[in-house]
Amino acid sequence: MLQNATFGLDAPFAVIDLDAFDANTTDFMRRARGVPLRLASKSLRVRTLQARALKAGFRGQLCFTLPEALWLASLGWDDLVVGYPTVDRGALRRLAEDPEARARITVMVDCAEHLDLITAAKPGGPVKVCIDVDAGWRVPGGLMTLGPKRSPLHDPSQVEAFARTIVAREDLELDGLMAYEGQIAGVGDRPPGRPLMRLALPVLQALSARELARRRAEVVDAVRSVAPLRFVNGGGTGSIERTAAEPAVTEVAAGSGLYGPTLFDTYRAFRPTPAAFFVLPVVRKTTPKLATALGGGYIASGAPGKDRLPRPVLPAGLKLDALEAAGEVQTPLLGRAATELQVGDQVWFRHAKAGELCERFDEVHLVQGDKVVDTVPTYRGEGKTFL
Ligand SMILES: Cc1ncc(COP(=O)(O)O)c(C=O)c1O
Repeated sequence: MLQNATFGLDAPFAVIDLDAFDANTTDFMRRARGVPLRLASKSLRVRTLQARALKAGFRGQLCFTLPEALWLASLGWDDLVVGYPTVDRGALRRLAEDPEARARITVMVDCAEHLDLITAAKPGGPVKVCIDVDAGWRVPGGLMTLGPKRSPLHDPSQVEAFARTIVAREDLELDGLMAYEGQIAGVGDRPPGRPLMRLALPVLQALSARELARRRAEVVDAVRSVAPLRFVNGGGTGSIERTAAEPAVTEVAAGSGLYGPTLFDTYRAFRPTPAAFFVLPVVRKTTPKLATALGGGYIASGAPGKDRLPRPVLPAGLKLDALEAAGEVQTPLLGRAATELQVGDQVWFRHAKAGELCERFDEVHLVQGDKVVDTVPTYRGEGKTFL
């Protein structure tokens, strides 16, 4: 069906299956059980699709840089929380001098330096800030910390003291609090080919979630004793139901699962429908059993491993070559379907991550049923490559 829709298009090109995207949106809402979802914009990087998700019920966006948030604000979008700290003085100056942008954007902070950079931009009125709290689990005994290495703020007392610093400064307004548990939200608990991890991960994640639920509630209480909070954000695609169930959390951030990339195939609790694809042309038959496609080396970010490679999915029965994998200019394909492939045929792939795919293409074809219903620019296609 998908292949019928794009018949006649010259590859390489990228496709979003809108039926799958909408089904994933509905499933996100089901999993959140009424708790608002904030859209992780980096995970889509296509404004048309961000608007579609917002229309379907997402509330506000978690942006990935301040220049991105300024751009979206200038286009009329509201409730833009920048999910990561910024040291971009030019962007902070633009925020500082624009009352409209200051009303629409909240920036992330976790240390005095972040606050000082805002002050140095000489804001014409208060700049809204969100405190980033470490959601990692410090395994008892000090053996290791499970979770992304983000904010230095971990204990309720530290966060409360930082909140007091913020409210004491006239050029700042404490708006929200965020604690992102990437060790649960971004790590599938059924990793293929790793039997020990399959046993250990669900247990570690459950222990981490329990510790975080308790600590997040304490942190929120401590900060609310200092100032009100408009929102308390947590989670991601892989933890929607768990994070939403915490009484201290007022919203969950998520996005990747709307595209259904391969890294989200490994969760027990849910299974997004693959919605994002890229299509490459077969440009040569190196041997009768081996078809070679043009380009394709779209390796996902993160610790390198096989799980970061794109996966050929259509026609079924293809695999990457162990030595070349997905290359800058060519991707040899093996497997039973490779014998059938001819020069000029097209091969469909899934990316391991979501929005990163859009850094490779200027536009995406939106498919509904067996038709391309629209072709829209990615951020890159709009000349916007923020990271
Ligand atoms: C701060 C933060 N929140 C939430 C998410 C979850 O986003 P997604 O659902 O796209 O994995 C991320 C992803 O990296 C993130 O960095």
